[in-house]
Amino acid sequence: MTSLLPRPAVFSELSGSFELATGAIISGPADLVDPVRHALGFLDLRPGDSGDVEVRLDPSLGEEAYRLTSGSRGIEIVAGGRAGAFYAAQTLHQLLPDASYRFGSAGSWPVPGVRVEDAPRYGWRGLHLDVSRHFLPKREVLRMIDVMAVHKLNRLHLHLVDDQGWRIESRAYPRLHEVGSWRARTATNYYRETETFDEIPHGGYYTLDDLTEIAAYARSRSVVVVPEIDVPGHATAILAAYPEFGATGETYEVLPKWGISPAILSPLPETVDFLKTVLDELLDALGDTPFVHIGGDEVVLDHWADSPEIVAYRESLGLGSVVELQSWFLRVLADHLAARGARAVVWDEAFVSGGLRQDTVVMPWRGMGVGRRAAAAGHDVVACPVFPLYFDYAEAASADEPMAIGDTITVADVAAFAPAPADWAADEVGRVLGLQGQLWSERLIDPRMVDYRAWPRACALAEVGWSGTAGADFAERLPGHLRRLDALGVEYRPLDGPKPWQRRRPHRPGSVPVSAMMEHLDEMTQSADSTRPSV
Ligand code: ACM
Repeated sequence: MTSLLPRPAVFSELSGSFELATGAIISGPADLVDPVRHALGFLDLRPGDSGDVEVRLDPSLGEEAYRLTSGSRGIEIVAGGRAGAFYAAQTLHQLLPDASYRFGSAGSWPVPGVRVEDAPRYGWRGLHLDVSRHFLPKREVLRMIDVMAVHKLNRLHLHLVDDQGWRIESRAYPRLHEVGSWRARTATNYYRETETFDEIPHGGYYTLDDLTEIAAYARSRSVVVVPEIDVPGHATAILAAYPEFGATGETYEVLPKWGISPAILSPLPETVDFLKTVLDELLDALGDTPFVHIGGDEVVLDHWADSPEIVAYRESLGLGSVVELQSWFLRVLADHLAARGARAVVWDEAFVSGGLRQDTVVMPWRGMGVGRRAAAAGHDVVACPVFPLYFDYAEAASADEPMAIGDTITVADVAAFAPAPADWAADEVGRVLGLQGQLWSERLIDPRMVDYRAWPRACALAEVGWSGTAGADFAERLPGHLRRLDALGVEYRPLDGPKPWQRRRPHRPGSVPVSAMMEHLDEMTQSADSTRPSV
């Protein structure tokens, strides 16, 4: 097999080949021809009645499934839907030389004779971008979507809100973007060392028009944007803008350092109404959005327990504990989303607290043990455990690596990951929607660092998500695939380690081993008090 990545389900080489030239004719139904033309824009394919590339619908195939045949008479694509046609075109592109990934690559390209039958194992093949801790300009989000599309990744989880920054324009509550979108300075110290700061302002936000554009750009590349407004904790940036929506009314500055903050939104009706308005603004901007993440992680409930007003409100609702109040709060927001046609997604603490709507999707970041419990309880699950899917961990325990929260998560670790482990029961396996790699950005300070941490680990993620398991020849195919990323200008981590200028501030090897972190997180999910912050 050529270095196709992700690996197709069925692949065979045929005799004969085809010369595909710029301006070749493509025929078929417009809604399938369009995504092929779009994916292969460099070819400037021209619609016609019959052509070099023929596209057909086969409604018996899944939306993302396709068949691709090339031979001396031309190229045939049979797709189950728009996404399938788009992915057939991505596979066809991978059959062409790497130079075809460069802009301006007009000419004539030899397409080898092949037959491919393909469909994804998992429907959720995601990457998470934390644009709160370090903002990524819109152009970088669009570029990430382009690189995801090459890998048939189809969910972009945007972590738009955290203690360190709010990243969404709000016309109803403009102080959110005016005040909440920037901080005066940023922590520069290593984990658990004396605090130091850079004294340089950091910020940015997406206008509602930017978000409309990002969602449309993603949709045209078969990627669904999953926005996250993380509540009720991780709320410092919101409360810097509107302290009246907090549990204490105290004033805050947008947080300049990392870790868990006790700042928490109030559960009282004014705050719930505020959040519904902001969620509506977001939904209106994104258009038809099937999932909205509402966080629920690392919530410090002390301010709720200490507030007489909140205690009285909890009792008026007939709720016996602050944990039940938190469940109620998230469920009210999930109900609001459901009325707008969107499903809520939460981090696993919210599942452990109990009381979720049954259709809420759970992201088990603290390990697959809690993921299994969520699946057994009938929740759809997206596997995203710290090990091996937190891509902010270093790929090697080496001071040559750039500063990372901890180590080590390698490409091979990601390739060996099973989103639905073999010892799970069939109905639990059936609840696994897929998997997602997390790019938390406390130490991913700019787009170059995002590229370095994302790729090639996300190449392995894409293969597992599409094929179910990484092929035995994954490591052999990867170098060939990386030449495509070279042509695209992606600054991935080379397989033999960083280039000198990619080392940047040295990592402190071994300071936070990921194995110790996983043990700690696993314990957290076992204990009765498991909604307490864990790191
Ligand atoms: C998380 O890492 N707090 C989801």
